[in-house]
Amino acid sequence: MAEAQLADSLYIVNDFGLQHFQKQLFETDEGKSVALSYFRKRGLREETIRAFGLGYAPDERDLLLRKAKSAGHNLELLKKVGLCSQDGSRDFFRARVMFAIHNLSGKVAAFAGRTMSSEKTVPKYINSPETEIYVKNKILYGAFQAKKAIRQLDECLLVEGYMDVISLYQAGIENVVASSGTSLTEGQLQLIRRNTSNLKILYDGDPAGIKAALRGLDLALEQDLNVKICLLPDGHDPDSYVQEFGGEQFLKYTTENAKDFIFFKTDLLLEETKGDPIKRQVW
Ligand code: CTP
Ligand code: MN
Repeated sequence: MAEAQLADSLYIVNDFGLQHFQKQLFETDEGKSVALSYFRKRGLREETIRAFGLGYAPDERDLLLRKAKSAGHNLELLKKVGLCSQDGSRDFFRARVMFAIHNLSGKVAAFAGRTMSSEKTVPKYINSPETEIYVKNKILYGAFQAKKAIRQLDECLLVEGYMDVISLYQAGIENVVASSGTSLTEGQLQLIRRNTSNLKILYDGDPAGIKAALRGLDLALEQDLNVKICLLPDGHDPDSYVQEFGGEQFLKYTTENAKDFIFFKTDLLLEETKGDPIKRQVW
């Protein structure tokens, strides 16, 4: 009983957060000029921004806190979901565009905030802490929006980032979820497996992307998933590719360049051991 009640109250506080961030984005001059224009520059349309619960946290010390308190929300719950600092003195998300992270039924489980500054000392994304309602290794970003399409198309596309999911969805490629920077977990794969047995991993073509793809792969095979891998052309992630070339070209590229995992791994190992007969023998 108590557990379900706690979860419910955490969702209520997060929903307050969502409303707040959306209001700041759509209904304030600063939000429109700073954040809405940021999303537009990144090629997002208003319906997409709304479908993914995007928002804005202005650069103010305790705007959300004050509003939440005067709306009667409990400070301990605000701390617990990570919307304010642990000493309850300031907002956690400030000067960031906001991404709501939904659970499978569409409730807001957490948030991610992205800085709009390119300053290297500022972390690009910060995230809500884990709570009863946000168990990171069991949530796939975009799964709520993608669920139907994954079943209909009997395939799930897996990307790395929030923007990858959103841009692909907007381009009509809706069967897409993200692992959000972490390597894939068993819980996330089980979630996919419940909806389809076909997984296509789309990662950046850089060495880190390749490594991430390989890590996800072995786990995926254990879940009895048919796995294909497609690396994007150098310098592109799915978001930048689809924004530049469009959905049709994206589908064409990923269909033509997806490799069955076995071929992918073999090619990679051959490439690694090129000109090195000793290493090659080991493999
Ligand atoms: N990530 C994170 N915290 C960071 C950096 C990254 O949680 N400090 C996660 C986010 O889910 C992010 C994903 O890892 O979407 C991929 O990171 P990255 O490639 O750096 O960002 P992009 O998704 O490409 O974001 P953008 O296009 O806005 O730069
Ligand atoms: Mn990107």
